[in-house]
Amino acid sequence: QQKFRKDYAPPPYTISTVHLDFILEEETTTVSSRLRVLPNYGLLEEGASRPALKLDGRKDAKLVRVAVAGNELAEGQYTATEKQLTLNNLPPGEFEVEVVTELRPQDNSLLEGLYKSSGNFCTQCEAEGFRGITFFLDRPDVMAKYTTRIEADEANYPVLLSNGNLKESGKLEGGRHYAVWEDPFPKPCYLFALVAGKLSMKERSFTTCSGREVALRIFVQENNLSKVDHALESLIKSMKWDEDTFGREYDLDLFNIVAVDDFNMGAMENKALNIFNSRLVLASPETATDLDYSRIEGVVGHEYFHNWTGNRVTCRDWFQLTLKEGLTVFRDQEFTADMNSRAVKRIEDVMVLRNSQFTEDAGPMAHPIRPESYIKMDNFYTVTVYEKGAEIVRLYDTLLGKEGFRKGMDLYFQRYDGHAVTCDDFLAAMADANNVNLDTLGRWYSQAGTPNLHVSTSYDAAAKTYTLFCRQNTAPSPGQDVKQPVLIPIKLGLLGPDGADLPLRLRGSDGSVTDLGTTGVLRFEEAESSFQFEGVEVEPVPSLLRGFSAPVKMQVEGQTDEHLLFLLAHDSDPFNRWESGQRLARKLLLKLYAAAAAGGGDHSAKAVGERCTAAGGVPDAFVGAYRAVLGDETLDGSFKAMAVSLPTGNELMDSIEGADPPLLYQVRMFVVKQLALQLRPELEALVAANDDQPGETYHFTAAACAHRAIKNRCLAMLSSLEEPEITHMLLNRFKAATNMTDEIAALSCLVELAGPDRDTALAAFYDKFKDEPLVLLKWLGLQATSNAPGNVALIKKLVDHPAFNITNPNNCYSLFLGFGRSPVNFHAADGSGYAFMGDAVLRVDTINHQVAARMVSAFSTWRQYDSERQVMMRAQLERIVSHPGLSDNVFEIASKSLK
Ligand code: ARG
Ligand code: ZN
Repeated sequence: QQKFRKDYAPPPYTISTVHLDFILEEETTTVSSRLRVLPNYGLLEEGASRPALKLDGRKDAKLVRVAVAGNELAEGQYTATEKQLTLNNLPPGEFEVEVVTELRPQDNSLLEGLYKSSGNFCTQCEAEGFRGITFFLDRPDVMAKYTTRIEADEANYPVLLSNGNLKESGKLEGGRHYAVWEDPFPKPCYLFALVAGKLSMKERSFTTCSGREVALRIFVQENNLSKVDHALESLIKSMKWDEDTFGREYDLDLFNIVAVDDFNMGAMENKALNIFNSRLVLASPETATDLDYSRIEGVVGHEYFHNWTGNRVTCRDWFQLTLKEGLTVFRDQEFTADMNSRAVKRIEDVMVLRNSQFTEDAGPMAHPIRPESYIKMDNFYTVTVYEKGAEIVRLYDTLLGKEGFRKGMDLYFQRYDGHAVTCDDFLAAMADANNVNLDTLGRWYSQAGTPNLHVSTSYDAAAKTYTLFCRQNTAPSPGQDVKQPVLIPIKLGLLGPDGADLPLRLRGSDGSVTDLGTTGVLRFEEAESSFQFEGVEVEPVPSLLRGFSAPVKMQVEGQTDEHLLFLLAHDSDPFNRWESGQRLARKLLLKLYAAAAAGGGDHSAKAVGERCTAAGGVPDAFVGAYRAVLGDETLDGSFKAMAVSLPTGNELMDSIEGADPPLLYQVRMFVVKQLALQLRPELEALVAANDDQPGETYHFTAAACAHRAIKNRCLAMLSSLEEPEITHMLLNRFKAATNMTDEIAALSCLVELAGPDRDTALAAFYDKFKDEPLVLLKWLGLQATSNAPGNVALIKKLVDHPAFNITNPNNCYSLFLGFGRSPVNFHAADGSGYAFMGDAVLRVDTINHQVAARMVSAFSTWRQYDSERQVMMRAQLERIVSHPGLSDNVFEIASKSLK
């Protein structure tokens, strides 16, 4: 059941137009589809018969009629299995195929194809959901023009939407009505969408650069109408930004967004009818955090940007997914950077990459951004394809510069508009537009694993030259034993003794000298290379990989704590200031962990603290560096908050053989506590300085977010002290909070502390928000992720709480995936966390395969942990794999994790 990239072949037939007719009823939905089919098999050999037309289907789409060229086929004149309809003896040239299917969307708990959410009909077709609606060539290289007629009861489903422009609508007998939608742009079926339901709408308009007036509409349930302004505003900003940055204009008179509560992923870019998970549309200061506001802006942008990178130019096959996703993530990252703070956005993105993607790339599910094979495509909507994919697009941008990158994009659109293409086509457009060779960059598409970059330096005082020696290697990954060197752009600066950047004069192999300014980019693409700078008066401190110019793990030989402290204090590149602090913290945490692990079996906070203290504790220089950051008037609060946050446990895990997650958690908490103890006056001063002014109301601006970020970071550090006075203050702040950002920040501190305040706060929060399902997701998530001891029992109870709904993906993500992130409780030494998760995976798999597959990934990292935990996690995976009736989705992740 595996599909391989190397097996790609064009389809023997294509489809030019599709007429769909949906009769929506409470029991049975009937879908009639009329396809114009074109031969694509080329010249046939003498006597050869025409190939069969094989249409994809799904078992819950019941075939009721099929006709070819106007003639209904009797049973026996076609072959139909649950998953495929085969038509033989087809006429020469073009012909028409009609297919009628019957569906029961109200029973579709997979949330793929046509289903119901909160009483409304909606669809999700990417990757292969369209075959759940009708038999079709369900592959992205078949692009057709769609006309869609929808008929339904008018009182229950007043709103009828599909892709493109509304052509016609009207009333029918028996209280029914209909609408006909026509999409003038050819598209693959994964971009098809339909919505029918009782929805309220808010509208604004946007005038494009060429003067086209576009109606922008967001549809939600009526009680949520007051929460769509931020999403609408974000859409307008996105449209403007894509015109200004890439010269891309919107191409229809209408752009619709619909919010639904039950949705497997974040959102979907269906042509002119985006469908969103409601958590990525709805926001009000009282119910959404700064992070929610920022995600909404980013995802609204992401889906809008897909109109050009994904829809107008689409993927030839699903192995090319990163062609549209990596590129569109890069575009949404740049959009967010331009709308807010570039440095802060870059750091956030790198945190995600290190925390999740590096882990994926080092484990059993490691795959290149363009995978070679899959069982279920849905399992490959991964951080690797999306986030690492975006990093690879960023490599072009770094190497070619903004102008060169734009030239490449222009050529890409010029060549491929209206086509389904490959990652190689994208690379060719970038290379041709700039007349450069990018072959070694191309290797990133086919190699899994995070490359290691090793840099050593030497200074020749007499010759005043400074040389970097670079080496790279990538460890083997499943199915890939030997790796080739890849193109790594090393963006760098050299700091002089005063902390200022020195001019970079790079000497070529022919003796010529190139002036790189104060920040240059080295093109490193061999296994080993050296780069020499001349005219360097004193030995500099190198600032390497500025802005994280490549997704690699870098080791700098001879980089001392003094260097890192110097960079943290002076680097002109804000990313590397942050990075230097992270490197210091990482070294410290790993050292203390080693000491704690060597000290025997008592893992109580007290015993761990004593061992860490004996190993030197948190050195004054480290505390001093944090103090300097906190007190630096030139730094903004969001940056400061990130600069005083320690690397996550996940991120450290891959440097520890046989890691014990609860122990690592204790070590991290020890360091946080020490910092809080020693920096208490500074933390308290920052809380006061960044508190709301009396009467201040919530605004989502970079400046206001910065105040809240540093204030709440300081509060979190202070709360680690577990002093009654501080806990009391947090409880008061929780009660007095006027926005969700501050409210949830205080609550998340309280949830980590055992005792009556925790319960009081959780109960109060539930009571206040019991009618706000999106806020209850936070309530579930905080409890699930909590490291409060013995939490497993509480989580088990939550599964039966009326607030929890197991058929809703967001609920499962908050509760189960949240739980999987708790180092203390998921990884509880008695295996109770693993058993709970194993049971949950099997239960959810009977409802929704995609959600269950994401949950089972929590076990994929089992090889990182100590042998007792490995045995227990492995046992859960084995139990899951051998479970009868398991979905392909879960089977693929679980079986590959065991290999
Ligand atoms: N294309 C959507 C996006 O922009 C994601 C769709 C994911 N669908 C799935 N079945 N995995 O991010
Ligand atoms: Zn996307």
